[in-house]
Amino acid sequence: MCGIVGIVGEYDCKNFVFDGLGKMQYRGYDSAGICIKKDNELSCIKVKGDVESLRIKAKDINNGCVAIGHTRWATHGKVSEKNAHPILDQNGVWAVVHNGIIENFAQIKCDLMGQGVAFKTQTDSEVIVALLAINEDAESIENLIWACKKLRGSYAVCTINKKENAIFVAKNKSPLYLYHTLDFSAVASDPVCFPDGRYYRLEDLEFAKITKEKIEFYNENGEKIQKKLLQGSAINRKPLKQCDDYFMLNEIYETPSKIFDLINIYKKVDMTALKKWWINKVKLIGCGSAYHSCLLGAHFFKKHLKIDAEAVIASEFRYDYSIIDSSTLCIFVSQSGETADTISALEKAVKNTKKIVVLTNVKHSTLSRMGTITLPICAGQEISVASTKAYTCQVVALFMLVMFLKGDKSFAHSINKTTKLAKLLSSLNNDINPIATEINKHEKVFYIGRGIDYMTAMESSLKLREVSYINCVSMPAGELKHGTLALIEKNTPLVILASEKKLISKTINNALEAKSRGAKLFLITTQKEQIGDLNEFEYIVDLPTISTDFDCILTNYCLQLLAYKVSLLRGNNPDRPRNLAKSVTVE
Ligand code: M6R
Repeated sequence: MCGIVGIVGEYDCKNFVFDGLGKMQYRGYDSAGICIKKDNELSCIKVKGDVESLRIKAKDINNGCVAIGHTRWATHGKVSEKNAHPILDQNGVWAVVHNGIIENFAQIKCDLMGQGVAFKTQTDSEVIVALLAINEDAESIENLIWACKKLRGSYAVCTINKKENAIFVAKNKSPLYLYHTLDFSAVASDPVCFPDGRYYRLEDLEFAKITKEKIEFYNENGEKIQKKLLQGSAINRKPLKQCDDYFMLNEIYETPSKIFDLINIYKKVDMTALKKWWINKVKLIGCGSAYHSCLLGAHFFKKHLKIDAEAVIASEFRYDYSIIDSSTLCIFVSQSGETADTISALEKAVKNTKKIVVLTNVKHSTLSRMGTITLPICAGQEISVASTKAYTCQVVALFMLVMFLKGDKSFAHSINKTTKLAKLLSSLNNDINPIATEINKHEKVFYIGRGIDYMTAMESSLKLREVSYINCVSMPAGELKHGTLALIEKNTPLVILASEKKLISKTINNALEAKSRGAKLFLITTQKEQIGDLNEFEYIVDLPTISTDFDCILTNYCLQLLAYKVSLLRGNNPDRPRNLAKSVTVE
């Protein structure tokens, strides 16, 4: 989490940093800060709030030839101006911005306090700058390598000092990229900050000294190393909006076109190596919405290939006793490709199997380099914190992968089905305002379903929680009566997801049990004609049907829109829900 950007050279350094931070607010938007070196002084401005507020507050700060900036998602220490980065040492000689978590910061802090060092913030990051400051006589790059040897945990560190026109950087388990051109050199936690697709990627325990003229790379022993310049494609993080609303709505509406892109790409993607693998079970691993897409992926593997498959939450996978051997296929799903829990889970899996598929939306991401086979999600850039089009593309990609493994005929058939899905999604026009208005009046809501509808309910309810802050609980319909029914009161909204024909009557019975205890029922269905008495429901969203595999995507699409609408009714910013960030790079 958190975004870092830095620049040294003859350039408008201040605005380079502001622009870079603006592009990286998906990494956190609790607070932001900038530090500029001019002559032999460091000027630092910080705000509790977003990059726009920083731009306003820092408008009169002098420009200089070295600048670093940060956008924060708080881990240690509350969200405050003081805890925002850059953080200066007690004498104001060094400034640091840091992404990651220093696990042994308390011990280091205690030792340094014993030596008379004063601390001003509650952050773990301050120990880095304090270490640099006590070893000031050393050469700066050696000093940074020395300081980092004392740290345990993850870090992308970027530091400047009063005396040198240079930036010193270090990386361990948190991404950091560098850039050099005629007039300046730069560093950032995402290459989106750079003007073209070229960049150097720092690997773990590598360091660099960045000056206007050049970048020097070092290993942990302080020896100079050579790095290859990588040529990605220019990344444009300013997608055109099809509508003037928030990114979340724009991204929901983009789903059909992204599915078309996915179909075209998957027709060409080389998955033949996968067919050669002998597989006896599959684990699909991810977090949040990516985990929910894994649930559907596992369902497709079991249903269509009759292979034992299980979805596992990445942060749990690390500690469970799953048996992974050389015939286990592990599929890691991540929109950002930077989720720390998923990366750690992969590091565990790869010790036992080489059959690793990574499904990610970001080509240059950490995870995309870790798979034996890496497949794209094809959703295009997703800016809103709530995953919408990326989730749907993940489900579709997993479906196509399963169909590819099933055989040529099935794959061709899946292309037809998926095309139909995209067309139907773009024509959906159901009015969900009455449900949004009702849900907005409550602080607890239930989503129920069976089978594939329950998997979808988990995803849809996460979306509502995330952007509306309403306590929305998803339940397997049959489980309600085993305890949760106790929470149903007069008028409690109960949303029923009903797309799988053979499960509908039982689900409706469970809903009626809740209605008898006071619940108000809202039905989202692709099978209206299967429902007995339509009068039992406050409101029905009547959706068309495609297939048992894809109907749940239609219900989820409506519920994404519902979450968006409730968020607006509550006066929230759906793109930036409180306490969250798009990319979760800490465990
Ligand atoms: O980038 P990832 O797909 O690895 O992110 C995983 C989750 O953090 C993410 O899906 C999260 O749950 C979404 N914000 C939900 O909308």
